[in-house]
Amino acid sequence: MAHYQNIGNVPHKRHTQHRTPQGGLYFEELMGQEGFSSDSSLLYHRDLPSAISDARSWDLGESLATTPNHPLLPRHLKLHDLFVDEAWRGVDAVTGRRLVLGNGDVRISYVMTDTSSPFYRNVIGDECVFVESGCARVETVFGAFDVANGDYLVIPRATTHRWLPIGQEPLRAYCIEANSHIAAPKRYLSKYGQLLEHAPYCERDLRLPQGPLLAEDAGARADRPTEVYIKHRGNGPSGIVGTIYTYPHHPLDVVGWDGCLYPYAFNVSDFEPITGRVHQPPPAHQVFEGYNFVICNFVPRKVDYHPLSIPVPYYHSNVDSDEIMFYVAGDYEARKGSGIGKGSVSVHPGGHAHGPQPGAYERSIGAEYFDELAVMVDTFRPLELGEAGRTVDDGKYAWSWIGGNNEQPLDGAG
Ligand SMILES: [Fe+2]
Repeated sequence: MAHYQNIGNVPHKRHTQHRTPQGGLYFEELMGQEGFSSDSSLLYHRDLPSAISDARSWDLGESLATTPNHPLLPRHLKLHDLFVDEAWRGVDAVTGRRLVLGNGDVRISYVMTDTSSPFYRNVIGDECVFVESGCARVETVFGAFDVANGDYLVIPRATTHRWLPIGQEPLRAYCIEANSHIAAPKRYLSKYGQLLEHAPYCERDLRLPQGPLLAEDAGARADRPTEVYIKHRGNGPSGIVGTIYTYPHHPLDVVGWDGCLYPYAFNVSDFEPITGRVHQPPPAHQVFEGYNFVICNFVPRKVDYHPLSIPVPYYHSNVDSDEIMFYVAGDYEARKGSGIGKGSVSVHPGGHAHGPQPGAYERSIGAEYFDELAVMVDTFRPLELGEAGRTVDDGKYAWSWIGGNNEQPLDGAG
């Protein structure tokens, strides 16, 4: 996010002596993308950021292995059938993620959790975690966030952080892990990176980390050895492996930072929908993008107002994409027949034309408003099913366009 921020205690001039109150030096770290040629931030540590005292394997086993969507089928994955019988107790938001879908560009996983995660750093790519429900405090080296229903938290690659669910309700999170960076769509940005007037959100809608955040602020001792779980490339079943570093000091030791690279939060309710007289295509709903995928959201909105409009979508073959919709909120109870409801994921693969279920096309005529909330990931390479996706596949969605037993639209995007 290329908007300069300056938080905490930083020196007047970069790359110069920055002294502690006792006269020692803080240790400057440049965290930058694309080989010192893109966005970066400078972080000032109390301890050496490179000091590790131990390293061991974080065994990810087969948890990230995938199975091809073959024979090619549209699918309905019922994420709320994961973590049943209170299986979420004792699960954390990092090691407890269960892979729903993935390919070489992006992985989508789901977790339900009530337990603090270890410190974690994904050095494969950026993460965009959508909070379906519950609340959490997320502590990062840049500062802390309080996140709740409808929040996206975009976390740059290699940001050390941890998730702390808070409150009585378990946290439900939909985790989009890129193998690249995640940012606002380029067409929303000026040539210098400001969000333009036609964008459905602006910088004012983005929440910054509350910081600086030091170990003592988080109720920990600064000199306490601390483990950090690193997810990185390797020779595992998915090309991804893990390592656990032990640092001789607590990782929350940044007294100040400045720059244009940092995590930020955005609540989906701050997304201003773009509507039209006739049906608007999914790119009108886009919120973020990464390499070979986009993230869109469908929010409550006034729908198409041409006197002859059909508010639900036309049938469509998005020939270059797999289309993954996560249904978060809204009135899905009336959507008879398809089985789609809150917590559902629909997989509409490239190669299969899809759209409203039988009857929905006609019934939508005259509708003025859709009360729905869904998060969509479109990928330009086929997605494969992860362990969680295989577990909660309803096995019958592919046939839901046959006959008259499906009477309501699935969603505004179809
Ligand atoms: Fe679609």
